[in-house]
Amino acid sequence: MTALYQLVRDADLTARNTFRVPARAPWLLQVNDSTTLPDALVLDQLRGLPLLPLGGGSNLLFAGDAPGAVLVMGGRRVELLHDDGGRVRVRAEAGAEWHGLVMWSVEQGLRGLENLALIPGSVGAAPIQNIGAYGVEVGEHIAAVEAWDLQAGGWVRLDRTACAFGYRDSAFKRQPGRWIVAAVEFELSRTAAPRLDYAGLADELAAMGASAPGPREVAEAVIRIRRRKLPDPARVGNAGSFFKNPIVPQALAEALRAAHPALPVFPGDAAGTRKLSAGWLIDACGWKGFRDGDAGVSAGHALVLVNHGRATGLQLLDLARRIAASVRERFGVALEPEPRLVGADWGS
Ligand code: EPU
Repeated sequence: MTALYQLVRDADLTARNTFRVPARAPWLLQVNDSTTLPDALVLDQLRGLPLLPLGGGSNLLFAGDAPGAVLVMGGRRVELLHDDGGRVRVRAEAGAEWHGLVMWSVEQGLRGLENLALIPGSVGAAPIQNIGAYGVEVGEHIAAVEAWDLQAGGWVRLDRTACAFGYRDSAFKRQPGRWIVAAVEFELSRTAAPRLDYAGLADELAAMGASAPGPREVAEAVIRIRRRKLPDPARVGNAGSFFKNPIVPQALAEALRAAHPALPVFPGDAAGTRKLSAGWLIDACGWKGFRDGDAGVSAGHALVLVNHGRATGLQLLDLARRIAASVRERFGVALEPEPRLVGADWGS
């Protein structure tokens, strides 16, 4: 039988982050049954220590060791809560693997998560940065997040509005020490239309010969595109996009577009704003395929930093800062990291 929770002293985190950089934590708490979380959190050894919830470790960079305890929610159960033949409610525990949930949902004929296939990480991490790809953000399909509120000391159920999702943003990201996600409830559909507006997705489906694609075909097309463009974290350490696509005033976007007609520009989060392609800006500064020791930029996608083997988190952070400085100097645009930085601040 698996223990309800386990506490390990001086834990090695190298295999728990997809950058594969060396880092340690004074304590690692793995909670396999979330009902025991309140008991585990008051263990003497953890008193007064900061807590760092860790999912698949695919969206953070250890620039240093974890300062207190690392918390891993281990529950992986996935269940169908409600199915009226059209709308379907699914609940998944935080420790379930994200891609496994996506593939399970498409096998059930459910639409909603298929554009988010092959994103590394866990279900519990998905709402934190509102993972998104190929025209869909997970927040659109989240009905509620079940979490432990560390401030109030009780279980809460945050509905979609309370989660306050934005582009790679949420209430969880804005208040990092506040909640521990235990489970996520998704609102999926058997009848919704496929979402094929993202450039390249419809072309990929056409190349596959899928004329009326179901969720499984869409997931397959996304997997094919991702495999072509993005490095596999199982083979080379990376955390996906290292920078967010910057949201800038419309006037700046127009000025840059006038000077650089190839620059991809998308609608921003708010009126009067536009989202620029960070990958394009970084590529234009000549960084694609760059390597300094084992810290580098993917040769396939300029937005992805890679660890070729023995890079440290600080070396990767240093490279990220050099990239951001060159983009700021050339285009006047500030880049911000997408992954959470542990042991360092990005600054301005
Ligand atoms: N581009 C370049 N050079 C590059 C990479 C991209 O010029 O090296 C330009 C191209 O014009 C390309 C455009 O940027 O058409 C957009 O590239 P892509 O379709 O790869 O999308 P992205 O904006 O770079 C975002 C997400 C990805 C997600 C893709 C697909 C962010 C920060 N990244 O990347 O998410 O998979 O869209 O939807 O929003 C992640 O968050 O880890 C991630 C991989």
